[in-house]
Formats: sequence, structure tokens, C-alpha cells
Amino acid sequence: MAKVRFTETALRDAHQSLLATRMRTRDMIPIAEEMDKVGYFSVEAWGGATFDTCIRYLNEDPWERLRQLKAEFNHTPIQMLLRGQNLVGYKHYPDDIVTKFVEKSYENGVDVFRIFDALNDIRNMQKAIEVAKDQGAHVQGTISYTISPVHTLDNFVELAKDLEALDCDSVAIKDMAGLITPTAAFELVTKLKEETDLLVDLHCHCTSGMTPISYYAACQAGVDILDTAISPLAWGTSQPPTESMVAALQGTEFDTELDLKLLAAIKKYFDDIKEKYGCILDPISESVDADVLLYQIPGGMLSNLISQLKEQNAIDRYTDVLDEMPRVRKDMGYPPLVTPTSQIVGIQSVMNVLGGERYKTVSNEVKEYMKGMYGKPPAPVNSDISKKIIGDEEVITCRPADLLEPEFDKFKSEGEEKGFVESDEDALTYALYPPIAPKFLKGEAEEEELCPRKPDGTGIGTTEIPTEYSVEVDGDIFDVKIMPTGFIDVEGVKNPIVSDPDAIPSPMQGLVTKVNVNVGDNVNEGDTIAVIEAMKMENDIQADVSGVVKDVFVEPGDSVSIGDSLMVIK
Ligand code: CO
Repeated sequence: MAKVRFTETALRDAHQSLLATRMRTRDMIPIAEEMDKVGYFSVEAWGGATFDTCIRYLNEDPWERLRQLKAEFNHTPIQMLLRGQNLVGYKHYPDDIVTKFVEKSYENGVDVFRIFDALNDIRNMQKAIEVAKDQGAHVQGTISYTISPVHTLDNFVELAKDLEALDCDSVAIKDMAGLITPTAAFELVTKLKEETDLLVDLHCHCTSGMTPISYYAACQAGVDILDTAISPLAWGTSQPPTESMVAALQGTEFDTELDLKLLAAIKKYFDDIKEKYGCILDPISESVDADVLLYQIPGGMLSNLISQLKEQNAIDRYTDVLDEMPRVRKDMGYPPLVTPTSQIVGIQSVMNVLGGERYKTVSNEVKEYMKGMYGKPPAPVNSDISKKIIGDEEVITCRPADLLEPEFDKFKSEGEEKGFVESDEDALTYALYPPIAPKFLKGEAEEEELCPRKPDGTGIGTTEIPTEYSVEVDGDIFDVKIMPTGFIDVEGVKNPIVSDPDAIPSPMQGLVTKVNVNVGDNVNEGDTIAVIEAMKMENDIQADVSGVVKDVFVEPGDSVSIGDSLMVIK
């Protein structure tokens, strides 16, 4: 009888889910040799949010991380998570960039490509699958698992057959929120084994608490691979613990034959890592939250949502946002909640709650989504909401990437001219993250402090010092608490809440990236007067009245808080 094999997620999903993806390469390398001895099916160590975090916060070259890991893992395949046409970003890239990215990922060390699309639209996975197959990689097609009135067992099996037709080697059931019940896991795995020849991998997070039971049910249905995380980085929004699962299956027909003593040594190492990164571990993301059974929020999203609400000084609206999320998801045709749809739905829910009116402020990503630019939603979107957001603009039905012009050469030559791109890898980093990559590639980025200290040097620990404020947004008074999430730069508070009663207030905290008007300009109600980037989304700020711009208080590059005056229009 087939034995079950494990994919270890400690170096990617586990720290993405629990430690805000902050684990440094220098904390991975010392244990890699031991991990390489275990006999995992693969170690998931690259892709997902790690690429972004490396250049945004860690001042690390993600390609260099991959090469260093590859040098250590001589027996164990290195696996990456690839967001289909979104690669490791949040939007669709043209085919030439997808091709180059997959080729370079393979060349630098990725052996197994897990490829998914947030909408399960296979057209968005096709190109990456094709290129990864051409390289000779193991390609794992993915079902983004979710529960909704429009998702059925048969849909998922059909998708797996389509993935098999594209020559995938295995299929992953990606259960971001740990929603799969033992019965559903048994039925889906059984059906996939019956109707395809693919190896079947079950990837679940523990958020709901059901996962270890579902894993056992999947074993009984013939699952080939399970995703687990070494115990210090397991549970909660991460995967089930490797050692416990190994022990649970020992002596059964599903025996993994992994060595618990070896795993104990690895566990000891990660105990220290967990302590080292303790200040960013949010206790909420480590515990079981049965609310996910209602809200269907995936692993990383819950901890992101918490930090985003803290950033917006609105953690007290957490429950309201959780209530709004299923409504937004329904309006958008029940997308599975995984990057980037999880962010798009999550942030829209935040804006719907904090803005006081649903869809009053809409991110550009939601507009694009409504226009079909992310692919085909599982069910039709709410037409009234769509109309409110995009008016009569055309909705596309073709493969979204078919509309994108090649871009790789442009980024490469531009980056070379400016002197910060030296390789194809650099060019890809630039193409994926144009706003932040140049600073990194020029060597001007700095590694963020792991656990910042207060000015008096005492360290922030995990204690909050709540300071309560009342903030007026569009006439509504919100009670907000300021919760420090890191170093408090007193001099950095350059924008105290300006309360010009006539001014248009910022609906969110973020970075002003564009100001479209000058003093003296005529504007009409609904015109986009500025763009604020918040929570990785760009948000158009619209004039709420027609008139003449009397005063402008912000310029591109300014950080604004919720309620700060942007400009006066009379
Ligand atoms: Co995951």
C-alpha cells in the first residue's frame, strides 16, 4: 500500500502564515542540511509572499535565497508557490514575463511548481504550467478549495481533469482556511484518485481546527502527499505539525517512515526561531478560530487583516469587517479567498465598513476585477454593484493576459539604462515590483529591524498601549484605538489630524501616490482627485462635490491618516 509523503512548509507557508513572511535566509540555511536528510516529498521554500517580503522588508535578493537553498538541499526537491499569471505579484503579467520568470525560477533551483489561480480559471495557469513542463519540472496544478453555493465536488474534479490534460504531474487541493471537512476531503480525494492518474496533495491550514481529522480521512481515500509544518511553526493559520502527523500514521498502511528523532532535532532549531520572531507572532493567528467556518478566511488573511486594521487605527471594527466579507464575496461572484482575491475582498470589506457607505471608495483592483481582468468569477457578479463601480464599461471574456503587451525587454533595457539591472533576474524583480524594486536593486534598501525597540530601549514586547481617539469620517464618529505595531517615531507624526470642516478627509491611512488637481481647478462630483495606496491596493479618491479646488493639503509621497484633510473644494 502506498505510503504517504510530506511536503514541509516551514520555509514558506508556515512563516508566511504565522510570522508575516519575515524569516530571513540566514535563519533557514543552518537547518537546511538536517532537513535535507528527512526524506520529504519536497520542501516548500519559495514563492507566495516571500519574494515581495524579501525586497520590501528584508533587503534580501529572493533569487539569491533560492540559490543558497538549492546549494543545501541536495536530495529534497525545492517547491515554490506560483500564483499562475500573477506569478509572485498581485496582478496579471504578460506571457513573456511569465515565461522568463518560470524559466529563471527553474534555473535557480525550483524543482516543483505548485501553480494556482484565485478564480480557478485554468486560462490563468496554462502558460506557467506549459513553461514549467518544458523545463522538466514537476508541475502541480491546483484546486483553490472553497465552499460556496456555486462550488461542487464535480467542478473541482473537472478542473483536475483539465489540469491533467495540460500534463500536470500532481494536483493540490489548496484549502487556505482549513474549510475542508473530513467527509469532503474523503470524497474529493477518492474522486480525484478515481478519475485522474495524478498524484493528489492535500494542503490545509489549521484555522478551523478540523484539519488533522481531514488529513486522516484523506489518507483513507488514498492521498499521496500531505503538507505539514514542523511543530513550532504549526497549527493556527499554518499547517498541522509534521511530527504529530508522522506519529499518527506510524504503523499504519499510511506510514511515512520519517524519523521522529531527526524531526526532533529540527524542531529544536525552530523553537529558537519562533522565540526570535516572537514579537511578530500574533496570538490570534496561532489559535483555532472557528469563525472561519462562517467567514472562510484563509491562513494569511486573518493576520493580514488584523495588521491592516491596526494600520488604519480601526482594530475595533474587526467584527464588522468579518461580517461584511461574505457580502462582498457574494457581490463578486464567490471567488475563493486566496491571493490576490483575499486581499481584494478583504480590503474592500475594510473600506465598506470604514467608509460608512458600501463601495463608496473602491480600489482599482476591484474595478479591474469587475471588468473581468482577473478572469471568470465562479458565479456572475452582482450587476448593481458592478454598475456602481464600473458604469457601462465593457467586461472582457477573453483570457486576460491576451490583452497584455510583452514587457520584459522594456523593463530590462530601462533598468540597464538606469544602472540597477544587471541580470534577467534583476529585470524580473523590477518588472514585478516597479515601485519598490529600484531602491532595492540600487542597494539603497535597508533590512527592517526584527523586533524594534522603543526610544528608551525597553523593547515593545507584545503589550499594547492603547490610546483612544474619536475620528470623524464623513460625519460619522468612529472611536479608534491606536495600537503600536512597532517603533513609534515621534518625529514621524507629521500629519496630525487636520480638522478643516470643509475639507475632503482621507478615507484611509496610506501613501498619497497621485494628486490630480491644483488650486483653482474645476472639478465635478465623482472626479478622481487623488490616489492613495493603502494595504498594497491603489484607491481612487473621488470628489464628493462639484466646485473649485480652494486648497490642497497633500502631495505625492505624503503619508496620511484616516480623516486627514486632503483638499477643500467649494
Ligand atoms: Co497555504
